[in-house]
Amino acid sequence: MNALDLLKEDHDKVRDLLEQLVNTTERAEKKRPDLLAKIEKEMQVHTQIEEEIFYPAFKKASGKQNDKMYYEAHEEHRAVEDLVLPDLKQADPGGTQFSGRAKVLKELIEHHAEEEEEEMFPQARKTMSERELEELGEKMQARKKELMAA
Ligand SMILES: [Fe+2]
Ligand SMILES: [Fe+2]
Repeated sequence: MNALDLLKEDHDKVRDLLEQLVNTTERAEKKRPDLLAKIEKEMQVHTQIEEEIFYPAFKKASGKQNDKMYYEAHEEHRAVEDLVLPDLKQADPGGTQFSGRAKVLKELIEHHAEEEEEEMFPQARKTMSERELEELGEKMQARKKELMAA
């Protein structure tokens, strides 16, 4: 599978889970943590395959003039993993604070996925061959399988 198709599929899955999460209410005390755990796992695995496999390949192929994209993407991962997700996990699923934090998580992830799809992926298509993208996709798929099972 092409690397970019694989990543886009992940994005769509997380978009769907986030949509479900923000549509819950304070009454969904059980469903909220369930959805959140799913989102966290998907995000962790996705972020890891990007940082281990896709981003370094992108950086290498796309050269210095695209470094900014590479670093910005890393910072956004960090903001989600170190700040927004931990905050949301601490919020009471029966409270309204949870709703606010869930919305911030959704906005941040959607912004990040959109930038990847609209800026990084088109650039990757220019600088990497179809064959390279296929090989990266294979690697990421194997790594993903491993991490999902862990
Ligand atoms: Fe990312
Ligand atoms: Fe991504």
